[in-house]
Amino acid sequence: MAASNAAARADSLFHSTFGARSSHFGSASGRVNLIGDHIDYAGGTVLPMAIDARTHVAAARAAHDIAVSEWTEDDAWQRYAFGVLAELRERGLDIPPLAIAVASDVPVGAGLSSSAALEVAVARAALSVAGAEISLREIALACQRAEHLHAGVPCGIMDQWCVAHAAPREAIALDCAALVSRTVALPPALRIEIVDSGVRHALRDGGYAARRADVDAAAEALGVAHLARLSRERWREIDALPERMARRARHVVTEHARVDAAIEALSRDDLARFGALLSESHASLRDDFDVSVPELDALVDDAMSRGALGARMTGGGFGGCAIIAW
Ligand code: GLA
Repeated sequence: MAASNAAARADSLFHSTFGARSSHFGSASGRVNLIGDHIDYAGGTVLPMAIDARTHVAAARAAHDIAVSEWTEDDAWQRYAFGVLAELRERGLDIPPLAIAVASDVPVGAGLSSSAALEVAVARAALSVAGAEISLREIALACQRAEHLHAGVPCGIMDQWCVAHAAPREAIALDCAALVSRTVALPPALRIEIVDSGVRHALRDGGYAARRADVDAAAEALGVAHLARLSRERWREIDALPERMARRARHVVTEHARVDAAIEALSRDDLARFGALLSESHASLRDDFDVSVPELDALVDDAMSRGALGARMTGGGFGGCAIIAW
């Protein structure tokens, strides 16, 4: 569905729910991660890009905070929206009580950052009502904190950063240790297909937090702040860790190396190498990090048998989407 439709839907949802017109809008796109999964919270470099599908928020001042959306399954999404408002106020911004209506073309639970798109769209609408401005970096950090404290997901910074900073179809290399990013041009011949496995995840379900706990424990055992940046000379120390922790750590250090190699391959227009790195990433997420599911493995295998350059699951895993490079 066209992005502008979601904007119109948010506007009319606002009108039909609150009986008045909204005064301000905010929107943000979803993202797809080309390579570098489960390393943002380990200080790695990641390579996401914005997608065309967007989340739109219509807002206006109200007597108290109230939020409605097109999603009807449950109200869990409200924690993300109200969490963002709380975090902006926590930062001293004078955000008035708000009525907000949300409409989105970003599929939920598909690994395309529907949560971050919601958070950043709410932040933009709220800042617009308040007539306040903060940097994109601050928006990303406030939204990440909202997800930690109000939604209970100990996510890294990749999604909120990408959603706040990237323009559609623009890849960004984000160094999650230094919090600096730069845009990366994609070779015109490269085609990225996003395929939904149809398996739905909820990062709140605990698998994500468990992976992060393993990674944090491995970093502590090795005495490093950023596991992804463990020097190559020290990689062999990983073998001495308990078996599961060692597999998690092996994924993190090799995935970080693959991102650097992928950025380099793109700069040389070496699509074959880029594709091979995607496939290696998938194997690592499947075998060492245990976040793939059979449906995603099947999508990847099928793409490869049809002659793709490479394919991998993308995002947090446990379902969601695969990307295929052609
Ligand atoms: C989710 C999290 C991100 C990142 C990815 C996996 O999308 O929100 O911070 O950890 O999973 O790469």
